[in-house]
Amino acid sequence: MDFENTKNLYIEGDNLDALKLLQETYLGKVKMIYIDPPYNTGNDFIYEDDFTAEKEAYQSGSGERDEEGNRMIANTESNGRFHSDWLSMMYARIRLCRNVLEEGGVCLISCDDREEANLRKVCDEVFGEGNRLDRGSMIWKSACSPRGFNHVIKDHEFILAYARNIDLVDYDTADSSKEDEFFDGQLWIARTAANPVCRITFPAGIRSEGPDRTLKGSIGSGRTIIDIIGELKIESGKTAAPVVLEGSWPSKNQLIESLSKRDNDEVYDTKGQKWVEVFLTASNFPIVSKVRGRMAIRSIIDDCGNTGTPDLKSLGLEYSHPKPKALIEKLVEQFSKRNSIVLDFFAGSSTTAESVMRINCKDGGDRRFIMVQLPDTSETLSKEFNTLADVGKERIRRAGKKILSEWRAKQAKEKPAQGDLLSPENLKLKTENSVATAPDVGFRVLKIDASNMKDVYYAPEDVKQDQLEFHTDNIKDDRTPEDLLFQVLVDWGVDLTLPIAGETIANKKVFFVDGDALAACFDPQISEDLVKELARRKPLRAVFRDSGFGDDSMKINIEQIFKLLSPGTELKSL
Ligand SMILES: C[S@@+](CC[C@H](N)C(=O)[O-])C[C@H]1O[C@@H](n2cnc3c(N)ncnc32)[C@H](O)[C@@H]1O
Repeated sequence: MDFENTKNLYIEGDNLDALKLLQETYLGKVKMIYIDPPYNTGNDFIYEDDFTAEKEAYQSGSGERDEEGNRMIANTESNGRFHSDWLSMMYARIRLCRNVLEEGGVCLISCDDREEANLRKVCDEVFGEGNRLDRGSMIWKSACSPRGFNHVIKDHEFILAYARNIDLVDYDTADSSKEDEFFDGQLWIARTAANPVCRITFPAGIRSEGPDRTLKGSIGSGRTIIDIIGELKIESGKTAAPVVLEGSWPSKNQLIESLSKRDNDEVYDTKGQKWVEVFLTASNFPIVSKVRGRMAIRSIIDDCGNTGTPDLKSLGLEYSHPKPKALIEKLVEQFSKRNSIVLDFFAGSSTTAESVMRINCKDGGDRRFIMVQLPDTSETLSKEFNTLADVGKERIRRAGKKILSEWRAKQAKEKPAQGDLLSPENLKLKTENSVATAPDVGFRVLKIDASNMKDVYYAPEDVKQDQLEFHTDNIKDDRTPEDLLFQVLVDWGVDLTLPIAGETIANKKVFFVDGDALAACFDPQISEDLVKELARRKPLRAVFRDSGFGDDSMKINIEQIFKLLSPGTELKSL
């Protein structure tokens, strides 16, 4: 959908393969990874990764196969390696996904109590315990599942949270139009039932405005009063010694934390505002200087719904285990920046894709998503679709349409044109003019398949003269030029969402990727005219099909033409 312009990717296939393919192109580029893997319930089908066996031995294994003929195994509790099979599956993927994270990127993993403790160990090993985001997990209040629980009924799941490098994690400020903004807030010390009177120790060294002084008794009057226990001595702009002050302190916890914090500690109030400093004014009342910041997420998330089923229903779709879009939107808003890449390689019904598009629509960002999902048939799905990947793609299409129309309505409301506001012409003009900022609701679909190249099982000495013509083309017969183009993009580590334009030159189809980043022609019998025209356009890279040259002299000829007309072009043949 919107193949030419979109920056979003949907990859259909096993995520282990997908992560290997993405390694080079997206190395260190992804800001946020959210995954929601199967929970090792004893009923899940998981991919049996095969790292060692020969192909033949692997294929003759006794496991089941999915639609594509790939091997999937049921991970039942009777399996002696029940936990370790699941964890090995996760370990391989988490290791690979860490590589694509930006240095300041974060990885969030949904799981439940079955594997939380084990998965945490795996994440501690891959990311390092020091890279846990604070205590390293959040709790989401999920739908309650009373069955099977005799003692404690389960209605929560975990979201483990790790950074690639905790010291480099950064986010956009709450509002891009405002830089961090300092303001001083007076602590409102009025004796009310809400803030019972208590004593708080102010240590020595607290900044204090006004002249040196020593105070005893009380500060203030009436209900707005602070009692000094002992004396308050101020020398050279600081409290000279610790002093206990009794009052009706608001925000008691933040106040105590703030007064005892060390240099690098950060204190936030319930509005997400950072408490930079507590100091005393010349009138002796304490003031907090605050910086307006983004709200830090709370570790218990109970305001996002407890299932995503209604979200899917509202789009006319069905799938058994969707997360609520409000939950993923909260995570995207919290942990990504406006220009981030967000990856979900257990995409299911594509809740993450919809959430990314929605948050872009809300804050004008241009985050991109990469979804990876198996063409899984083992789940309950809407009847008209064969695989979960089909449901996931359709969800992005339907949600995308909705989001775009909501965005257009919002634009029309927020920026009324002059004159006849609601005339269809004005509306059309306005939406067309704003195309650049409309959320990207398209996506490019890539399917992971076996190599485009023919398997060669013969040793050269075994090949007979009369078989040679079968070996003139090393590319499998059913592969399209687009298949070959994407192989080249992956091999060269070129962004898979760059714009691709097709042109016919000298009767052959030529692809131009991102203007002159790459020119590719996979047609047979390419002519000198075509090569000269391509060389004149001076692409950074040019690629042809080996069999497209006709014979060896043509290949040498092509190299010479490029050397002469565009020596900077890197040449490659498949
Ligand atoms: C719990 S679901 C994710 C649900 C998703 N968060 C949503 O809101 O719809 C996990 C999905 O991962 C998929 N999956 C399992 N193994 C996979 C693999 N090796 N590669 C890609 N997807 C896989 C399964 O098809 C399953 O539907």
